[in-house]
Amino acid sequence: MSSQPPAANDQAPCYMTGFGNAFATEALPGALPVGRNSPTRCPYGLYAEQFSGTAFTAPRAENRHSWLYRIRPAAQVGPFEACAQAGGWVSHFGAQPVSPNRLRWGARPMPQTPTDFIDGIATVGGNGGPGEDSGVGIHIYTANAPMQGRYFHDADGELLIVPQQGRLRVDTELGRIDLAPLEIAVIPRGMRFRVTLPDGTARGYLLENFGAPMRPPERGPIGSNCLANVRDFETSVAWYEDIEGDFALVAKFEGGFWRARLDHSPLDVVAWHGNYAPYKYDLRRFNTIGSISFDHPDPSIFTVLTSPSDTPGTANMDFAIFPPRILAMEDTFRPPWFHRNIASEFMGLIQGVYDAKAEGFMPGGASLHNRMSGHGPDAETFEKASQADTSTPHYIRDTMAFMFETRRVIRPAAAALKWPELQSDYDACWQGLRKHFDPTRP
Ligand SMILES: [Fe+2]
Repeated sequence: MSSQPPAANDQAPCYMTGFGNAFATEALPGALPVGRNSPTRCPYGLYAEQFSGTAFTAPRAENRHSWLYRIRPAAQVGPFEACAQAGGWVSHFGAQPVSPNRLRWGARPMPQTPTDFIDGIATVGGNGGPGEDSGVGIHIYTANAPMQGRYFHDADGELLIVPQQGRLRVDTELGRIDLAPLEIAVIPRGMRFRVTLPDGTARGYLLENFGAPMRPPERGPIGSNCLANVRDFETSVAWYEDIEGDFALVAKFEGGFWRARLDHSPLDVVAWHGNYAPYKYDLRRFNTIGSISFDHPDPSIFTVLTSPSDTPGTANMDFAIFPPRILAMEDTFRPPWFHRNIASEFMGLIQGVYDAKAEGFMPGGASLHNRMSGHGPDAETFEKASQADTSTPHYIRDTMAFMFETRRVIRPAAAALKWPELQSDYDACWQGLRKHFDPTRP
């Protein structure tokens, strides 16, 4: 159990380690009731409130819930009124026809007017929806202003934040998380939070998961170690602010945006226990596994987090990364191979160069390869790799690409197809692939 003095707004965050633990943390000593969740009177005059992310009766391994001890209950809010979403955050993807074309975007520019994290979210595409409890929304955020006087919660899904440029301070009901590029954070569905920008500006990727909560994948014959080790996930300790004023709570609910006035900060949880909590993870701690003989394993070997679907082995979404690593396979085409998949792939680049593309896929940019669309290395990468000496290992340094892979087609948002960053010549990177076939030379 952690304890802290009463919160100051400049207080650095502290973390507890592990994934999905039965955490217990209090910002004031003795704030957590002992031996029961809801006593007649809670210590310090706090309110007890249960916060569930799964059905009450979900099996223990799936069950996510926490007990919160707070200055005022979350019920003290409202009414909500519909409000506009400035940035173009879309949750319904079924209406427009979708082409099988491969798409690629350059990095989105920073906004020209003051834009906070929520207003800076723009949707690239998605599938399923909040009403289906499956699918994803895929977004890019660009922000140059802190969330001031307003807080947010997303009832539609949990949020996976992948910063690409600029740090974020994410203050949540269950504590404070500081986040920098090469780290990720997951904010549970429904959790109220605020994002401020220590560097003044920030850009990154955001996955909204409408399906089952993410967790590290099963390892199968890999065994009990490697990939993302659970000890490397970090969850915030209890932290609170006791402030009153004229605030707003913005809620995303069934794809719409709603606003309610608040006369106090909702980040007033003095103590909590449970396993439904925000967490962060440093991608540099991923223990990357690959072949030490020949050929590549499937890229599922790079999965950091997965949201399972109702079909065993077929994820609603996977979050995979392509980190620095050593390629040691002999007599092997070492970049990612040409392929077509039933799954659909959105890729982003946090830093460096991705080893399947010589140019055009830049940090902050994105690509979309939908179901059964052929893709793989560009012509320049193919020519180089098919001539390479594979008798010695090759070290891929200073890179971090990632993929949001989903079981369903990712339908681009109409606005994203009009962004000036969309590269109209993406197909050209494969047009230079030469014919090498010669029936007289086996
Ligand atoms: Fe792919």
